[in-house]
Amino acid sequence: MLNYCRYTLIFWALVACSTLCLADPSPECIVTEFSQLSDAIDNCLEIVVRNVTVPGGTTAEFKLKDGASLTFEGTTTFEHYDWPEWNLSLMRFEGNNITVEGASGHVLDGQGALYWDGIGDKGPPKPFFITIAVTNSILRNINLLNCPHHCTIINGSDGVTLTGWNIDCSHGDGNGGHNTDGFDVVHGNNVVIEDSTVVNQDDCVAVNQGFNMSFSGLRCSGSHGISLSVGFSKTSYIDNTVKNVTYSNCTLTHSSNAIHIKTHNDGGPGEITDVTYQDISFTDITSYGINIEQDYANGGPTGELVGNVPITNLQFYNIKGTVSSKAMPVYIYCADDACIGWNWSDIVISGGNQDSSCNYVPEGYTC
Ligand SMILES: *[C@@H]1O[C@H](CO)[C@@H](O)[C@H](O)[C@H]1NC(C)=O
Ligand SMILES: *[C@@H]1O[C@H](CO)[C@@H](O)[C@H](O)[C@H]1NC(C)=O
Ligand SMILES: *[C@@H]1O[C@H](CO)[C@@H](O)[C@H](O)[C@H]1NC(C)=O
Ligand SMILES: *[C@@H]1O[C@H](CO)[C@@H](O)[C@H](O)[C@H]1NC(C)=O
Ligand SMILES: *[C@@H]1O[C@H](CO)[C@@H](O)[C@H](O)[C@H]1NC(C)=O
Ligand SMILES: *[C@@H]1O[C@H](CO)[C@@H](O)[C@H](O)[C@H]1NC(C)=O
Ligand SMILES: *[C@@H]1O[C@H](CO)[C@@H](O)[C@H](O)[C@H]1NC(C)=O
Ligand SMILES: *[C@@H]1O[C@H](CO)[C@@H](O)[C@H](O)[C@H]1NC(C)=O
Repeated sequence: MLNYCRYTLIFWALVACSTLCLADPSPECIVTEFSQLSDAIDNCLEIVVRNVTVPGGTTAEFKLKDGASLTFEGTTTFEHYDWPEWNLSLMRFEGNNITVEGASGHVLDGQGALYWDGIGDKGPPKPFFITIAVTNSILRNINLLNCPHHCTIINGSDGVTLTGWNIDCSHGDGNGGHNTDGFDVVHGNNVVIEDSTVVNQDDCVAVNQGFNMSFSGLRCSGSHGISLSVGFSKTSYIDNTVKNVTYSNCTLTHSSNAIHIKTHNDGGPGEITDVTYQDISFTDITSYGINIEQDYANGGPTGELVGNVPITNLQFYNIKGTVSSKAMPVYIYCADDACIGWNWSDIVISGGNQDSSCNYVPEGYTC
């Protein structure tokens, strides 16, 4: 009798769960037209966005309820538009403790080819694909196709994990794709990006500001490297401190740099402290295996060193790769007393017909 009750209970628990736990959310929470989105966002904790077209010139605002989840299914297409200004996005996520994910086979299509002109930032305004301003949230298994400009901007997030992303701007190769950064941390603390693939035409990841970040298991192709870019003069950069960042277990191929750290001599002040790169491997690097310069301004090196953003405690372990024939394995160009306490070991970079050049030599490394 006792067993009978137990099994009956388990049976009804399973029936209840199969309807409550596994079923689709209620119909009003399944968005199949863009016009249904804002109601769903205001009323639902579980939202499905299925085969939706976002009208041109609109930022799809996903300002989700606390604890809400949202799943993309099918193809989400973003219509082309001549955006009037920079720094606007095709979509924006806000919320606390939210979960955003892509169902198997989904794609978010930015229709980048309609914007690509080979000059990116220097041409007419182009939208970012996604801006993320969340706390304690996860965004996983997202497939981005053909970003018009920078793909993912983390700005004003604290506690965010991006995992299982696949960013594919490979169509931009030879077709004008430019400044298609994979992930930019413009301002964020406690950021994790892991197990993701980026095929693009600018930085795979670039960090501008923030504390406590971990980037691991990234596979980058076509990029400008896994980067730090700190000390911009732009007014939107409220401070210029980067502290406690780790890049580990990343592979790069077919890129201009593998590791790139640049500080901007016309902005700041700021600092880069406690940054580790470990277990990084690369092939087919066309400019520099490792490139660290304190002379950038307006997107390029100027030759003019300024120590406005000192780099302290930069740890490199187990960095292995090959650079192509015209490249330089390691280039370190530091302002006076602005590179402090670097400790490198197990750095093996082959190829390249230019000798490495270092005006500061890290402990444990022979340039
Ligand atoms: C986050 O949201 C989930 C799903 O709504 C909920 O179960 C969980 O308790 C929330 N966590 C916190 C810390 O609020
Ligand atoms: C999205 O639309 C395509 C083409 O009409 C269809 O094959 C697919 O089943 C749809 N996806 C979903 C999740 O409904
Ligand atoms: C960085 O992480 C440490 C350790 O978890 C934490 O104490 C500190 O508050 C974090 N910093 C920020 C700015 O969140
Ligand atoms: C550095 O950041 C990591 C998360 O990436 C965190 O676990 C660790 O506690 C932080 N360390 C310090 C000293 O804040
Ligand atoms: C390194 O990253 C790859 C993904 O590129 C992952 O499959 C592997 O498990 C990671 N290894 C470690 C030791 O984390
Ligand atoms: C973004 O906005 C900042 C500040 O408004 C501006 O300086 C910058 O030129 C804009 N464009 C880009 C591509 O960052
Ligand atoms: C980051 O967010 C700040 C504050 O909202 C804003 O002023 C700035 O323009 C944003 N930067 C980018 C690159 O979006
Ligand atoms: C450099 O790193 C090695 C290996 O982790 C360690 O033994 C050594 O103490 C470090 N040196 C400095 C100056 O931090």
